[in-house]
Amino acid sequence: MIKVNDLIKSYSIDGQKFWAVDNVSLAIGKGDMTSIVGHSGSGKTTLLSLIGGLTKPDSGSIVVDKENLLAMSDNELSTFRNRKISFIYQFSSLIPTLTVLENVILPTVFGKQQPDGVAYARELLAIVGLENKMKVYPSQLSGGQQRRVAIARAFINAPELVLADEPTGDLDEETEEEMIGLFSSMNKNKGVTFLVVTHSTELAKRLGRQFKMHNGRIEEII
Ligand SMILES: Nc1ncnc2c1ncn2[C@@H]1O[C@H](COP(=O)(O)OP(=O)(O)O)[C@@H](O)[C@H]1O
Ligand SMILES: [Mg+2]
Repeated sequence: MIKVNDLIKSYSIDGQKFWAVDNVSLAIGKGDMTSIVGHSGSGKTTLLSLIGGLTKPDSGSIVVDKENLLAMSDNELSTFRNRKISFIYQFSSLIPTLTVLENVILPTVFGKQQPDGVAYARELLAIVGLENKMKVYPSQLSGGQQRRVAIARAFINAPELVLADEPTGDLDEETEEEMIGLFSSMNKNKGVTFLVVTHSTELAKRLGRQFKMHNGRIEEII
């Protein structure tokens, strides 16, 4: 599903160049659940955004579902992303002027047209335990509830690959357990591939393979 070879991404700050992602290679199969751990600043978010085609590397190759991301035009890339990939960010990134239900439906405007997006959005919101909050606005929810809306939204376009950056960061233990269950069931029932950056040892344990990043480099923890 993901094949990354010799990936390099550097930034220059005050004329000083450093490597946020330093010669990373990795291969992740379809239907795999994989976690990435590492200290803050080790390059985890940068690597996810390279794999999701949101950032261009200095060099190296990125193949997702047999497509070479670096050979695509920006238009092709965004169509590809909308059809196949879903992001769950560290911060919930909901649109404040839309209701919970509208937020979850929103990606269908750009992605695959589901026959009944509204019904599926309701179903996903019920799965994350927010069936009573569909008509409220994000500001009326707690941080953890907002996070759950963002997680429901991530599945509305039936993605093949979910790239998640600290998805359970501000959730209590019980909700985190529900989210892990949701990820596992999406993996088992729909074959969704997961690449998840997390500090949660509980979450990392429940995902299959584990990688660790340090100063832009990656190694598998076996
Ligand atoms: N757009 C950017 N411009 C300059 N430096 C960046 C940029 N994005 C990330 N960095 C730097 O790259 C390094 C890796 O960042 P990041 O991938 O966000 O790490 P992590 O997600 O592991 O905390 C950090 O030193 C960060 O400051
Ligand atoms: Mg990060």
